[in-house]
Amino acid sequence: MLAGVNAPAPLPTVEFADGTLVPALGQGTWTMGEHPARAAREVDVLVAGIELGMTLIDTAEMYADGEAERLVGRAVAGRRDRVFLVSKAYPQNAGRRALVAACERSLARLATDRIDLYLLHWRGRIPLADTVAAFEGLVRAGKILRWGVSNFDRDDLVELAAAPDGIRCATNQVCYHLGARGVEWDLLPWMRERRMPLIAYSPFGQGALLHDAALQSIAGRERRTAAALALAWVLRRQGVIAIPQTADPAHLVANRRAVAGGLPAATAAALTEAFPAPSGPTPLVVL
Ligand SMILES: NC(=O)c1ccc[n+]([C@@H]2O[C@H](COP(=O)([O-])OP(=O)(O)OC[C@H]3O[C@@H](n4cnc5c(N)ncnc54)[C@H](OP(=O)(O)O)[C@@H]3O)[C@@H](O)[C@H]2O)c1
Repeated sequence: MLAGVNAPAPLPTVEFADGTLVPALGQGTWTMGEHPARAAREVDVLVAGIELGMTLIDTAEMYADGEAERLVGRAVAGRRDRVFLVSKAYPQNAGRRALVAACERSLARLATDRIDLYLLHWRGRIPLADTVAAFEGLVRAGKILRWGVSNFDRDDLVELAAAPDGIRCATNQVCYHLGARGVEWDLLPWMRERRMPLIAYSPFGQGALLHDAALQSIAGRERRTAAALALAWVLRRQGVIAIPQTADPAHLVANRRAVAGGLPAATAAALTEAFPAPSGPTPLVVL
């Protein structure tokens, strides 16, 4: 347990269509595992996050060329049953045979026997029907417990839903933060109607959002940090899971605390004035 955070109140949860509950606040791992000298500290932060209830960990075969998955494997060793593991496959690995092989490689790096949620990282050239068939085969084999997609807009999801078993897609992971609200126009409502949680990546706009003058000014008035407001804002909606990334133990604790702070209506209104909601269809932000 980190200093200064004793037995925090449980995090709010989000429910998948199959009834599985996960914490609304998880942990991202992009840029982790890139420098061996930093690995031990990164593992410690992930472990501390698990202890604070941020038990959903998001990774991908892409991150640090597999090293992020290895790092996650170290962090979950001995506590695997408390963790909800999310990983992602490259689009070029999303074919019927290739996806099985990619999943086996991820499982080996993660040092586990199953992935709780396996995602297609972004849409590529392989037909969606082939990818879904491969995902379903992995579910039947017990290698993954459910599957989903990432960086899909509403039209992509509609197309996916029309493929055999496509409606079994559990989630869509997309960029969503104060400065990228386009998903609120049609994607989020479409997903909500289908009880499909949205996983919001880059809730801090990869850190850049935190330097926004308007956000800093509102945060200053509220005596909170820009990060706390940005996170509370993403999590204000039911069915949204945020996966901020940090390698800094103090930031980890601050992010965990930000959830308890909630978002008063007046603060939400000030944020919406500074960061307007979309007034029409908006292309997805893809990082
Ligand atoms: N599916 C996809 O295509 C996709 C794309 C992008 C990201 N993702 C996932 O989403 C996760 C999060 O997104 P992200 O890593 O792009 O960006 P992010 O979470 O928006 O921002 C990360 C940056 O914010 C800083 N930070 C974190 N907490 C902070 C705090 N309390 N105060 C100040 N700075 C803070 C971190 O630095 P410190 O380390 O110094 O705290 C880091 O530089 C990724 O790690 C990845 O797992 C998925």
